[in-house]
Amino acid sequence: MPQPDREPDLADREPAPEGQPPYLTVRDLNVRFRTEDGVVRAVNGVSFSVAPGRTLGIVGESGSGKSVTGLAVLGLHDPRRTEVAGEILVDGRNIVGLGESQVRRLRGRSVAMVFQDPLSALHPYYPVGRQIAEAYRVHHRSASRADARAQAVRMLGRVGIPQPERRADRYPHEFSGGMRQRVMIAMALVNDPALLVADEPTTALDVTVQAQILDLLADLQAEFHTAIVLITHDLGVVSQVADDVLVMYGGRAVEQGSVAQVLRDPQHPYTWGLLASVPTLRGDPDADLTPISGSPPSMIHLPDGCAFHPRCRYADRTGGRSATEVPPLLPTGEPGHLVACHLSTVDREALRGTAIGAQV
Ligand SMILES: Nc1ncnc2c1ncn2[C@@H]1O[C@H](COP(=O)(O)OP(=O)(O)OP(=O)(O)O)[C@@H](O)[C@H]1O
Ligand code: SF4
Ligand SMILES: [Mg+2]
Repeated sequence: MPQPDREPDLADREPAPEGQPPYLTVRDLNVRFRTEDGVVRAVNGVSFSVAPGRTLGIVGESGSGKSVTGLAVLGLHDPRRTEVAGEILVDGRNIVGLGESQVRRLRGRSVAMVFQDPLSALHPYYPVGRQIAEAYRVHHRSASRADARAQAVRMLGRVGIPQPERRADRYPHEFSGGMRQRVMIAMALVNDPALLVADEPTTALDVTVQAQILDLLADLQAEFHTAIVLITHDLGVVSQVADDVLVMYGGRAVEQGSVAQVLRDPQHPYTWGLLASVPTLRGDPDADLTPISGSPPSMIHLPDGCAFHPRCRYADRTGGRSATEVPPLLPTGEPGHLVACHLSTVDREALRGTAIGAQV
């Protein structure tokens, strides 16, 4: 594969410390929804772990199961309509099958979430300072109102809201999109959670504000040593902030490994397609975007075999297996780098250079 001449994001970043036991370990996660149209197989056998101070990027197109995975980690699925199987170990405790009140006690203090749209998470009729103070008091019941407000103001200042004392009394609609996302981050982090799930936290923001919010998350992570799961459809975002990456397609992990492994040595045709649609990662910021042709699969009727086969231009090189056998996720040879594709290693090496440069 031709190496991009510019690799600014990967080269400039300090790697996060390794060697700590994971705070979050997910093993063989399966999530199914019962709907009137049939069973939606949203997540199928996904496994990953995240250690304190590290960021896992979960990347994939719309409908690939990213948010469903994030919500499962927070124990937020409705057990009446949803079947969650596998293990989700948060600080060693499996939350799959725990009662709602136990999960609620766990999340908030040790686990928090940031969403794409802060307006859906912030109450429109209360000043933001009061909302953050209340989030604080849920887990610090003995804190006085004055203490909780002081914490809210401190946190607003910490996430870069100017004049936090005054702005604490403002309502969500009085903030710009980027400032609102900062408020949301302040609310998520006021209880100093050990794990943060950020679901498309910058998608609605323009590029400059997006970079500021990603920098802020990285700063806060360095300060609080938070384990972060960052959900995004954008490999460019992953390259800026993540240490590890999980590429999802059709609810399955198709490739995973460190960011350096997956972005510099991508092994899966779907990852090649994602990379081809991020010109800056190809070393040519002026190149045309090359979207992956075709559309994501139905999660009720997933294609047999490799779910990507109807869109994959290499499916006919695997002796018919792409359409009939689900490719297992196997080591590539590099420690920690896994790929699920029937192509031989030799074929993958030969094909990907043109795949990333040309249309996949
Ligand atoms: N509560 C639900 N009931 C039924 N189906 C659902 C539910 N939530 C999600 N799904 C389905 O599960 C699949 C995965 O959805 P998910 O929200 O995880 O996608 P995503 O990768 O986050 O996509 P996007 O990038 O658009 O946010 C989709 O087919 C979606 O329609
Ligand atoms: S298994 Fe076949 S269809 Fe799936 S990515 Fe590999 S070559 Fe393409
Ligand atoms: Mg989503």
